[in-house]
Amino acid sequence: METEGIKYAGSKLKILPYIQAVAGDLGAKTVLDGFSGSTRVSQMFSQMGFRVLSNDISVWSETFATAYLLHDRPISHYREIIEHLNGVRREYGWFSEHYGGSPDSCGKRPFQLKNTMKLDAVREEIDRIGLSGTDKAVALTSLILALDSVDNTLGHYSAYLTGWSPRSYHDMELKVPHLCPHKEGNRVFRKDIFDLLKETECDLAYFDPPYGSNNDKMPSSRIRYNAYYHIWTSIILNDRPQVFGKANRREDSRDWKNTSVFEDYRKDKEGSFIAMDALRRLVREANARYILLSYSSGGRVSRDELYGMLCSEGKLLKVIETDLRTNVMGQMRLTNKWANTGRHTSEYLFLLEKQP
Ligand SMILES: C[S@@+](CC[C@H](N)C(=O)[O-])C[C@H]1O[C@@H](n2cnc3c(N)ncnc32)[C@H](O)[C@@H]1O
Repeated sequence: METEGIKYAGSKLKILPYIQAVAGDLGAKTVLDGFSGSTRVSQMFSQMGFRVLSNDISVWSETFATAYLLHDRPISHYREIIEHLNGVRREYGWFSEHYGGSPDSCGKRPFQLKNTMKLDAVREEIDRIGLSGTDKAVALTSLILALDSVDNTLGHYSAYLTGWSPRSYHDMELKVPHLCPHKEGNRVFRKDIFDLLKETECDLAYFDPPYGSNNDKMPSSRIRYNAYYHIWTSIILNDRPQVFGKANRREDSRDWKNTSVFEDYRKDKEGSFIAMDALRRLVREANARYILLSYSSGGRVSRDELYGMLCSEGKLLKVIETDLRTNVMGQMRLTNKWANTGRHTSEYLFLLEKQP
């Protein structure tokens, strides 16, 4: 199954085949992807023929999901739009001022000037010709994918490389995103997951929450999606915000803003981890027969704690552990004998059937 997406912290690209194998066996029709991020999992669910409810709190994820899950015109229609946008003449604007660098400089900017000038021109053109709805989402998705392929970063935008990456020299080119036929009735949301759970029902809920860090001494190592991908927000909103710091981040992406309960490293008054309570709440509040939970061994909550919590909330049907470095997969039933001895980061998939 072919999906596409930007470089994204926590993307499940590598474990898509495992998610597909587990989800395909349940007879589910409607599937919720509660933290859709790059939307690779949502795209796969849609290609598997499920009706997909895709949700994430971030505006870029909403844009990608709208393009991949809700597109409603023939591909030739989108091809015309993309060809038109590729033909616009470069111009120097807000994005070039803040994010473009000359090839003779020492880098430390996310893109070369020729590409930010293309970005400035394309972004203005999208508004000038009045694109809206799925047309706009497809155009913005195409623009962001094109930029992601010529970036000068390690995959996020809170710092930029000194010197220029080889790919940053390429001329960016917009392409029609990989749009596949989809079921009627897909929905896209941009909500806090707990607000969404109150109003949705599905057969299978897939949850891939932010993991936070299990290192008490370095809580700042937590992934801040807003800080990492501020530039995608600015491109989508085209709101020319106040920026700060060396990376020219949006004012509203400062670290202390938009913290997530899933990343919280503190304990509550009763002594239990706030992140753990949030995971339990997810399981309890999901209106779904099956819950598939992704988690990482580097996350705030340990696998044993998670295992214990899930066993107390329903019937644990499957646990899959993948060591992404060795690609070893272990599968277990109701026994917590782990393959990983703690040396590498593992990804876990827990399949739970909720008790009626
Ligand atoms: C580990 S990533 C998901 C990655 C995704 N499965 C993929 O393959 O790209 C976690 C996501 O949770 C989102 N998020 C964080 N807090 C949230 C909340 N309270 N409600 C909904 N989404 C949230 C973040 O924006 C981020 O995209």
